Amino acid sequence: MEVRVLRTNAEIGKTAAKIICDYVNENPSCVLGLATGATPLPTYGCMIDEYKAGRVSFKEVRTFNLDEYCGLPREHKNSYYTFMAENLFSKADFDMKNVGFLDGNADAEEESRRYADAIKAAGGIDIQILGIGRNGHIAFNEPSDEFTDEAWKVKLSDSTIEANSIYFDDIPMPRYAITMGIGSIMRAKKIILIATGASKAQAVRDMINGEVTPRCPASVLQQHKDALILLDESAAALL
Ligand code: GLP
Repeated sequence: MEVRVLRTNAEIGKTAAKIICDYVNENPSCVLGLATGATPLPTYGCMIDEYKAGRVSFKEVRTFNLDEYCGLPREHKNSYYTFMAENLFSKADFDMKNVGFLDGNADAEEESRRYADAIKAAGGIDIQILGIGRNGHIAFNEPSDEFTDEAWKVKLSDSTIEANSIYFDDIPMPRYAITMGIGSIMRAKKIILIATGASKAQAVRDMINGEVTPRCPASVLQQHKDALILLDESAAALL
């Protein structure tokens, strides 16, 4: 695990985007694992800027997103599919036929198999972007008694419901989601986890300095051979 503390969100976004864009330029049809949430937005913003400046093309890049809510139509304004379309895919030259997404309305077991097969057929994930929940979750893998492997349907924790409810103004937030499992995330060749803000400081400490336990799902990254953790000073405050 390499840990870097940077001063601003903008610097973090630039750093992550540079790693991604350099990789895409060397490997135009590479496979990116993408995350939702507020944290990766500066990274996506810098990737869009690089595309607009003509310094990178995502035309052949294949992507797999980490997770999706259950019970929302794909085009709903709060779906993660819509989030990605609005904040990244439509603002650069991504080809939507290369975009992989979990279907929160499908049978979870079949969907898990389909996603695992699709990731395998694409040759595996080259770079996986991650955020972290206040409770140490990655994707929607909530604290639990065991590390999961492939995608699975998860009941969201109270902490996650509290954190994400702010995005749901007209309907109640879904209580379930489908998420890539810890095994699928750990098989990515490189992982970049970004955490910013004081609300992540405890989870960041547990992830980096705590024992490896499914009670803090992100702690498993201690066992990944190429994990880069990008933090701002507030998120790094308890290290
Ligand atoms: C969400 C997502 C995660 C994300 C995390 C943090 O629930 N499922 O993938 O990393 O919570 O979100 P944010 O970046 O908005 O703090």
